[in-house]
Amino acid sequence: MRVLVTGGAGFIGSHVVEALRAGGHEPVVFDVREEAGQDVRDRGAVSPALAGVDAVCHQAAMVGLGNGVTDAADYVSHNDLGTAVLLAAMAEAGVRRLVLAGSMVVYGEGRYSCARHGVVRPGPRSAADLTAGRFEPRCPSCGADLVPELVGEDAPADPRNVYATTKLAQEHLAAAWARSTDGTAVSLRYHNVYGPGMPRDTPYAGVASFFRSALARGAAPRVFEDGGQRRDFVHVRDVAAANVAALEADTAGGGLTAYNAGSGEPHTVGEMARALATAHGGPDPVVTGEFRLGDVRHITADSSRLRNELGWKPEVGFEEGMREFAAARLRGE
Ligand SMILES: NC(=O)c1ccc[n+]([C@@H]2O[C@H](COP(=O)([O-])OP(=O)(O)OC[C@H]3O[C@@H](n4cnc5c(N)ncnc54)[C@H](O)[C@@H]3O)[C@@H](O)[C@H]2O)c1
Ligand SMILES: [Zn+2]
Repeated sequence: MRVLVTGGAGFIGSHVVEALRAGGHEPVVFDVREEAGQDVRDRGAVSPALAGVDAVCHQAAMVGLGNGVTDAADYVSHNDLGTAVLLAAMAEAGVRRLVLAGSMVVYGEGRYSCARHGVVRPGPRSAADLTAGRFEPRCPSCGADLVPELVGEDAPADPRNVYATTKLAQEHLAAAWARSTDGTAVSLRYHNVYGPGMPRDTPYAGVASFFRSALARGAAPRVFEDGGQRRDFVHVRDVAAANVAALEADTAGGGLTAYNAGSGEPHTVGEMARALATAHGGPDPVVTGEFRLGDVRHITADSSRLRNELGWKPEVGFEEGMREFAAARLRGE
């Protein structure tokens, strides 16, 4: 299969390119990082790139939490306008297969249960609660402590920041494209992806990169809140393999199918910091109590649909992956 990989020069995209090659496919990179003119928002650049292409693997996006809301227009432009231009060009070129880099951020706080009220959806955490060190969301009905659960793909969407909103809109655009073209769209909702080539710390980077960058400077990883935030850290080679599985799958056309792409092994951010620091030989992490508004407390996936329907399974375990990551090169180092 000849596959156009948008964002193919990025962290995840470059691993997807490698995995496609290893699987006997022909990846074609389309990325502004590779060449200034290769912008998905530019129809004049996208259309010729689709010539002879069987499928598109759409990784290009502006990522991370960013600066709050001041860069909202840039997120919407790269992520949503970019996706719309790409889909229109695909419709015209007759390309009927799309795999989209989705994200667990579409779920917001994820899934919780209250002993009295069952499954509940706590609202955004207030600055006052966070400042006072009350990090755990509480039951919206009775205020009781909640138990975090695994989110399934049918959990309601609840984006909590600009980036999350643009990732959700990408899925809706892809679904609309699939319906009107009878195309096949798959969204892989990645959880926290880490591994070699991850961009070093910027306001747009993920938490594993902050810790890894600190350790490389000889500084302690600074763990926000109390370190008890639960996440699913999934290795970038496993995510790349999920993309290949989704591209090769015999998925029904005419709609979008979403799959959680996580390791299935939740860990806390504090555990991740310790694993990395230990593998690196120190210094030990410090828990700072700082927070970022817009971060969610716990979000962990049920990725069994991806395993069952696409025959994918993660190969890189947490300890092994973190040991490799502690010594791996980051992009920009
Ligand atoms: N890293 C994670 O943990 C994570 C989690 C969930 C979802 N995702 C998604 O995975 C995808 C890849 O993210 P990443 O972590 O590899 O980030 P990245 O920044 O390393 O890669 C994104 C690439 O897209 C390119 N790009 C951005 N805007 C573009 C445009 N308008 N036209 C052409 N190219 C453009 C960038 O140059 C970059 O190389 C994104 O869609 C992101 O939303 C990542
Ligand atoms: Zn309750």
